[in-house]
Amino acid sequence: MLDNKDLEAEIHPLKSEDRKSQENLGNRLKNEDNLKSTPPLSRLSRCRTVAFFLSLFLCLFVVFVVSFIIPCPDRPVSQRMWRIDYNIAVTYDFLAMEDINNDKIQDVLFLYKNINSSSNFNRSCIDEGFSSPCTFAAAASGANGSLLWERPVAQDVAVVECAVPQTRDGKAASACILVDRPGSFIAVNLFTGETLWSHASSLSQNAFILRPLLQVPDVDGDGAPDLLMLTQEEKQVNSYIYSGSTGLQIGHRGSLGVDGESGFLLHVTRTGAHYLLLPCASSLCGYSVKGLYEKVAQGNSPFKKDPLWEDMLNTTTHQVLPHSSGAVHHLMHVPGKAGADVLLVGSEACVLLDGQELMPRWTLRMAPGLRRPVFGYYKPDTLAVAVENGTSIDRQILLLDLSTGAILWSQALPSLPGGPPSASLPTADHRSAFFFWGLHEPVGTNETEARGAQHSLYMFHPSLPHVLLELTSISTPIIAFDVVLFEPSRHAALVLLMGPASSDTPGLVSVIKHKVRDLVPSSRVVHLGERGPDSDQAVRDRFSRLRYLSEA
Ligand SMILES: *[C@@H]1O[C@H](CO)[C@@H](O)[C@H](O)[C@H]1NC(C)=O
Ligand SMILES: *[C@@H]1O[C@H](CO)[C@@H](O)[C@H](O)[C@H]1NC(C)=O
Ligand SMILES: *[C@@H]1O[C@H](CO)[C@@H](O)[C@H](O)[C@H]1NC(C)=O
Ligand SMILES: *[C@@H]1O[C@H](CO)[C@@H](O)[C@H](O)[C@H]1NC(C)=O
Ligand SMILES: *[C@@H]1O[C@H](CO)[C@@H](O)[C@H](O)[C@H]1NC(C)=O
Ligand SMILES: *[C@@H]1O[C@H](CO)[C@@H](O)[C@H](O)[C@H]1NC(C)=O
Repeated sequence: MLDNKDLEAEIHPLKSEDRKSQENLGNRLKNEDNLKSTPPLSRLSRCRTVAFFLSLFLCLFVVFVVSFIIPCPDRPVSQRMWRIDYNIAVTYDFLAMEDINNDKIQDVLFLYKNINSSSNFNRSCIDEGFSSPCTFAAAASGANGSLLWERPVAQDVAVVECAVPQTRDGKAASACILVDRPGSFIAVNLFTGETLWSHASSLSQNAFILRPLLQVPDVDGDGAPDLLMLTQEEKQVNSYIYSGSTGLQIGHRGSLGVDGESGFLLHVTRTGAHYLLLPCASSLCGYSVKGLYEKVAQGNSPFKKDPLWEDMLNTTTHQVLPHSSGAVHHLMHVPGKAGADVLLVGSEACVLLDGQELMPRWTLRMAPGLRRPVFGYYKPDTLAVAVENGTSIDRQILLLDLSTGAILWSQALPSLPGGPPSASLPTADHRSAFFFWGLHEPVGTNETEARGAQHSLYMFHPSLPHVLLELTSISTPIIAFDVVLFEPSRHAALVLLMGPASSDTPGLVSVIKHKVRDLVPSSRVVHLGERGPDSDQAVRDRFSRLRYLSEA
């Protein structure tokens, strides 16, 4: 039998350890070894053996249960390609991705204008109080293209803003807010398609709705962001504020006192003041959102002004840039070191403006391009932007380092004005794959030839700068296009929304998903400049092996 002191040590080994100094560690370990090997087996060590085997069996049992009895959660099988067709319809430049049915695969939201919906959901325009034809919203399962919901939502959509938070009966939901041509405001539940609320138009007949519809901080105190809409009426931009959770107008109409265009940006200065940056009369105009709010409603607002910006703004013309930058085509936010900076693509130059002082960080003179710039990574973890220099057959794609404006890569890639936008997707090597559309066969500016021209989709990856991969060619007009990661780290796919180029002539509307990797084996390798050492097949293999990352 062990004496009491040892028993104590057995039961509270740590307690006795505490008493001993660090130097005795070696001795103590030796002692413990002796204890363990001391024959004969006491009842206590038998207990220990039993406890050991019991816990071992328990562990094995748990492993067994987890690995064999509890089935793995069923992963829905994604189809590599799917397609939805509407025979006599038109569609809108709108695509949104969201996991609607909770299967961890992104689903696709789109809009089309038609007389009837497809056969499975037989709600007609008249059922929902619209005249026929009207705009339908539809959500398609990203896995197999089956429709999750589909219903008439508006007369003829002018602007859409999705992922607007809603709080209903204490439950958080997400909505898409649509404003239709007559000016009605409609909120649709993103996950079910149900109409949450709708309000008839309060706009005048000749109001033209500008894009986008902006979410601004809560002004009516209901905890949800509110909405700011700009319209153009007789060469004047007017502003309207609506409650984001009820759609009711807050205050009345306010005039900005200038002419302006779509493509404005809500900018927050480093001091936390909200300003609207708006393309106006061949320049860039700025408006304090606080000032706008005070024009339409009384009372407190969460907005403030920035003294520096108030000095910069010309009170009569509202121009913010002292020099003319030519017509502003695109305004976009760029993450900067101390807050967002602003990338301005104008008719004469591409400029990166500091987000606080609006001073140019760099300027690159170039010909006007049409499509929106696309961000991505050319060097690992260094943000770059793909811009267009010129249009039509003179178009050139430039990849610029955002911090310096240096040209990283450039390639002539003729395109037509109606061609689809570019896209990018981050890859696992901290760079990005870029997707550009260009003309399959360069043609002249002959209108009749151009209409039937084929657009080709080219894929580019910075690890192979001398190669473009021609993935596919399409002659139908493409209304919207995106490259989406349907499932994390795998399954990058193209989403194409195709339909008649003009909204006056209904025709075939198609939504197509195509897995990128499936297009690689049959792709054509286009060598830029001198031919590299890799064979075409080796190039295709490298593109096939690309892994993708979800955007942070
Ligand atoms: C639309 O639906 C109505 C009633 O269901 C039907 O009579 C009509 O033929 C349909 N029109 C088209 C173009 O499918
Ligand atoms: C479609 O219409 C038929 C006949 O009008 C009706 O019986 C059926 O319930 C409707 N289906 C749906 C999903 O509304
Ligand atoms: C399509 O996928 C969804 C899950 O995303 C599943 O619920 C549905 O049954 C599938 N439909 C078909 C026709 O396979
Ligand atoms: C505002 O702009 C107008 C027209 O360019 C100019 O005449 C005026 O002096 C400017 N005002 C200020 C305060 O800079
Ligand atoms: C833009 O393209 C024009 C020719 O169309 C060319 O002269 C000019 O150098 C290009 N600009 C840049 C920055 O590459
Ligand atoms: C455009 O091309 C078509 C077919 O190639 C030809 O018949 C027509 O004459 C051309 N038009 C012009 C203005 O070159």
